[in-house]
Amino acid sequence: MIEITGLKKSFKGMPVLTGLDLTIQDDETMAVIGPSGCGKSVLLKHLVGLLRPDEGKIIIDGEDITRYSDSKLYDLREKFGMLFQSAALFDSLSVGENVGLWLKEHTKTPETEIAVKADRILNLVGLRDVMEKRPSELSGGMKKRVGLARAIINEPKYVLYDEPTTGLDPIMSDIINDLIIKVRMELKNTAIVVTHDMASVYKVADRIAMMHQGKIVFLGKPDDIKTTDNPLAQQFIQGKAQGPIRL
Ligand SMILES: Nc1ncnc2c1ncn2[C@@H]1O[C@H](COP(=O)(O)OP(=O)(O)O)[C@@H](O)[C@H]1O
Ligand SMILES: [Mg+2]
Repeated sequence: MIEITGLKKSFKGMPVLTGLDLTIQDDETMAVIGPSGCGKSVLLKHLVGLLRPDEGKIIIDGEDITRYSDSKLYDLREKFGMLFQSAALFDSLSVGENVGLWLKEHTKTPETEIAVKADRILNLVGLRDVMEKRPSELSGGMKKRVGLARAIINEPKYVLYDEPTTGLDPIMSDIINDLIIKVRMELKNTAIVVTHDMASVYKVADRIAMMHQGKIVFLGKPDDIKTTDNPLAQQFIQGKAQGPIRL
């Protein structure tokens, strides 16, 4: 379980997180929505210790990670798989090597076994015969899937998705949505999906948290957000220029 309380973060005096509270239960898929630039990626980076907060607590499985040393944060990341917005693959490595990278760097697994595991996890995300290819030879949707395979090779407890469908066509977006559900079934993990794609939210989320001005301003189930009278949530899901959210 992840319990975030009073999380604050500013960059050069500009507040991004202003006292954010959010609890993510084990085995749920939580969608975090909000307009571009509202701090969704900044929030994810705090969970894996890539950013440190100015104030607040992040309790992961009972421990406040904001007090962790750099080396403990490094170990903490074993619990997490993160699919970055740009798939962030290494072009100098083959697809198979990209996917197996974590096992190579963190375990003593023999190379042949890493290759077998990488191939299996690539099959799980629907990719075959790509082990020897370079990332540059793949389409955007395939790169996303390789990024996902790399993120889950160590079967992490928590999988973080940063805008997994942004920039993909609607069909590829739906393939990725199905994969988010499939990965969760196979690995029995907890997922946090940061997105502004409401079709994706309705398909994958158990609960939705909406960010605005550095706080969570709506928390509820997909059915709740459709009927809420919260003007911020309504403006966002209807995609209206007029309303309390000013960009
Ligand atoms: N490392 C950083 N240094 C300075 N400003 C940052 C940094 N990371 C993010 N920001 C700023 O924080 C705000 C929120 O960014 P981000 O979390 O990326 O938004 P989004 O919700 O689109 O993911 C933006 O104004 C961004 O410019
Ligand atoms: Mg972002």
